[in-house]
Amino acid sequence: MKRRTLTSFALLFAGGLFLLPASMFGGGAAPTFSKDVAPIFFKSCAECHRPGEGAPFSTLTYKDVRPWAKSIRENVVSREMPPWHADPKHDEFMNDRRLSDKEIATVKAWADAGAPEGDPKDLPPAPQFIDGWTIGKPDVVISMPEEHTLEAEGPDEYQYFEVDPGFKEDVYVQAAEARPGNRKIVHHIIAFMVPPPPADRPRPNLTPEQLQQLRSQMERDSIRYREGFLTRTKMDAPVHDDGCATSSGGNSTRRDGAGRGEGGALLAGYAPGMNQAIFEPGAVKRVPAGSKIRFQMHYSKVAGSVQKDRSYIGLIFAKTPPQKEVITRSVANGFFLIPPGADNHKVTACWTLEDDVHIVNLMPHMHLRGKSMEIAAYLPDGRKQMLLNVPNYSFAWQEVYYFKKQPALPKGTRIQVTAYFDNSPKNKYNPDPTKPVRWGDPTYDEMMIGWIDYTVDKKVLTPATALK
Ligand code: HEC
Repeated sequence: MKRRTLTSFALLFAGGLFLLPASMFGGGAAPTFSKDVAPIFFKSCAECHRPGEGAPFSTLTYKDVRPWAKSIRENVVSREMPPWHADPKHDEFMNDRRLSDKEIATVKAWADAGAPEGDPKDLPPAPQFIDGWTIGKPDVVISMPEEHTLEAEGPDEYQYFEVDPGFKEDVYVQAAEARPGNRKIVHHIIAFMVPPPPADRPRPNLTPEQLQQLRSQMERDSIRYREGFLTRTKMDAPVHDDGCATSSGGNSTRRDGAGRGEGGALLAGYAPGMNQAIFEPGAVKRVPAGSKIRFQMHYSKVAGSVQKDRSYIGLIFAKTPPQKEVITRSVANGFFLIPPGADNHKVTACWTLEDDVHIVNLMPHMHLRGKSMEIAAYLPDGRKQMLLNVPNYSFAWQEVYYFKKQPALPKGTRIQVTAYFDNSPKNKYNPDPTKPVRWGDPTYDEMMIGWIDYTVDKKVLTPATALK
């Protein structure tokens, strides 16, 4: 009671009294779930807080929400929920999940008043999720070819599965969603499209011995090595923390112009905080005819219990003629080394645009020592344009930031990704501050990637040209 009175005074002094509904000041009726709070929860929480999703309870019904009222108050007031990690100064993102000050005040006043239900007749219609899909009913569902059994003990695993979806011609994807079969073990899913090799590619005619020799030579030359189901970086491989100072920009894999690296081009991904990609009408992901879909699965084990998983993706095809192809590219540094104990270790990666482009979205990716990431564009005239700043990166939330107004960047622009890592004991998520850290699959190794979805301005896609 006392706290509410103090808050009222504070608001009064702030001049907010006349802008906010009287119900927030204890004078009028307190906000109710049905009338005031459910619209906020349906819009901003149910995406994750609903049956079958990763969050701990559903925000779709009063019965489910009521026991959590106190925790909801705390998490909403502290802005821990809904999760959002971009610099709060900027609000250029379409999928910005943050609640407004007014919404936060409503949730707080509701919890403080004992979380009343109100009249169920006031409830707005609940958001519809078709069979759990966020994107709507997919035109096609593509599953891993078989169920995978994960043993109970041992380190994380990266497993790859390939499926032929049987696409006889190019397919234009308007929306894509990846869904885990078993949330207990699926840490992430990346579904890549792997186009067929060009028919005219010369195939060397090698004996099995020569092939084996070539393979071992490549393994010796590579900066990576395999450890069980994981790829890691050799400790003595060359180190380039400032990837932008190298000719490859820090990227360790050869790519063609479409950003297709060793794994193929990205089609859909799932990780906590991210599972769907929906593009504006006319902008599509193109899956070339004959492509296979390769699932990269990152599994974490449940100690003491053998688990099974068969994850899947859903695609919605373009319903209007496609005009722009959305291309996914990773701007990554594969050569860094974070010394033991370093609390603010800087790593960069760069990519210079070969076309005029529009940036659709950005997604920072690091592991547990990731501290912050900035993605900026240096225009050909020397100006710097900040694209995304995530000052307080959290590995728990792999967020994709969709622009409201897609930045237009001319050919010759240099995109620079700058990451800082905390390998000190101050980082409470740090698995081991005494170890030097390099790129690798497991979460106790690191990664440094700025994922970029973009469209090329001049490349107008019509089915006729795209089939070539
Ligand atoms: C992007 C997905 C997402 C959105 C959106 C989201 N949450 Fe969450 N929330 C989660 C996940 C996942 C957890 C569990 C976090 C963990 O275990 O660390 C969580 C945890 C919580 C908790 C803590 C539960 C506990 O164990 O104490 C509360 C309370 C909560 N959310 C409330 C909300 C409210 C209210 C909203 C909307 C205003 C919201 N969340 C929006 C994903 C989300």
